[in-house]
Amino acid sequence: MCNRYKSPSKAEEEISIETIKKLPKMYFTNVTGGEPFIREDLPDIIRELYKISDRIVISTNGYFTDRIIALAKEFPQVGIRISIEGLEETNNEIRGLPNGFQRGYQTLKKLRKMGMKDVGFGMTVQDRNADDLVHLYNISDKLDMEFATASLHNSFYFVETTNIIHDRQKVAKNFEKLINRLLKSNSPKKWFRAYFNHGLINYIYGQPRLLPCDMSFDTFFIDPYGDVMPCNGTKEKEVMGNLNECTWNELWNSYAAERVRKKVRKCDRQCWMIGSVSPAMHKYIWKPALWVVVHKLRSVFTDKGYSMYENKICRDYKDGIVTKEDLDKLSTCEECIDKCNC
Ligand SMILES: C[S@@+](CC[C@H](N)C(=O)[O-])C[C@H]1O[C@@H](n2cnc3c(N)ncnc32)[C@H](O)[C@@H]1O
Ligand code: SF4
Repeated sequence: MCNRYKSPSKAEEEISIETIKKLPKMYFTNVTGGEPFIREDLPDIIRELYKISDRIVISTNGYFTDRIIALAKEFPQVGIRISIEGLEETNNEIRGLPNGFQRGYQTLKKLRKMGMKDVGFGMTVQDRNADDLVHLYNISDKLDMEFATASLHNSFYFVETTNIIHDRQKVAKNFEKLINRLLKSNSPKKWFRAYFNHGLINYIYGQPRLLPCDMSFDTFFIDPYGDVMPCNGTKEKEVMGNLNECTWNELWNSYAAERVRKKVRKCDRQCWMIGSVSPAMHKYIWKPALWVVVHKLRSVFTDKGYSMYENKICRDYKDGIVTKEDLDKLSTCEECIDKCNC
C-alpha cells in the first residue's frame, strides 16, 4: 500500500525551520510523512506554520500518543487525523503496528476528552478493509469525530506502482453504504464528504476525475528535501524548484514551475485524494453543491438512497459491457497495464 518506510530520509537532510519560513501564505496545510511525530521539533514547525497558514491538519499513525497530546495542548485548534485501516484485526494486519488500533483509538478518545474538535480517523479503503468501512464510521460518529477516506493510489510519494482494487463492486458497495449514512446526517460537511466518496467510486473504476485538477496553480506539495511539486500523485517527482536554494517568488515564477504546470494540464492520473479534491470542490463548488442538493432531497423525501449504479461505468461493469481487464488498464497499477499490453 505504501512503501515510504523503505526509503527513509536522513534527519540532517530534512527540511529546516529556515526553509519553512520561506513558504507563502496558505489557507490550509496538511502535514504528513513518513511519520510527522518522529520529528521532535514538530511543535516548532507547527508554530511557524501557524504564522502563515489558516488551518493545519496533521496525518499520523497515532503511535506517539504523548507527543500528540502535548502538541494538542499547545495548539488546541490543530487538526489530527489518525490513520486506521479498519477494525482492530484488519488495521493491525494491514499496518503491522503492534497494538496500532488501540493506540490510535485511545489517542483519539483522549483528544476528544480534551475538547479537541478537528480530530478523527483517516481510512484508506482497499479490498482487505472495505467491509470495515461503515463499522469504523460508526465508531467515529459515536465520538462525534471526523472521518476522512481515501483509496489506493500509486505514486513516487507512496513508493508504489502496483496498488489496485480487485473487487471493485465490493469496495464500491461499501462506499455506497457510507455515502447513504453521510447523506442521512444533519451535517452539510458530511453531505459534501458523501460527494467526495462518490468520487472515490468513480476513481476506483478508473474514470476521469469529477472535477478539474489545478495542482501547481494554487496548491503545492513540498517534500523533506525542500523540493516543491504540484502534488504527491505523480509517478515520478515533478520538481518546480527547491526552496532551500531560492525564495518562494523565484521558485513559483520560475521556468521549471511553468514547465510542470504544462504537464499538470495534461496529467492523466485521475487521482482523487483530498489534497487535490478539496481545493477543487471549493473552486468548482456548483458541481458538488448540485449533487448534494439532489441527493440530500432524495434521501429526505424518498426512500431511494444513493446508488453506485448512478455511475454509468458501474452499470457497464455489472452488465459485462466492460471487463475487469478493461478497468485494470485504466488504473495507474503498472503491473496491470503491462499485463494488458502484452
Ligand atoms: C502516507 S501516510 C503518512 C502519514 C502518517 N504516517 C500516517 O500513517 O498517516 C498518509 C495517509 O496516506 C494513506 N495512504 C497510505 N498508502 C496509500 C496509498 N497507496 N494510496 C492512498 N493513500 C495511502 C495512509 O493511510 C494515511 O492516511
Ligand atoms: S491528477 Fe492532479 S493530483 Fe493527480 S498526479 Fe495529476 S496533477 Fe497530481
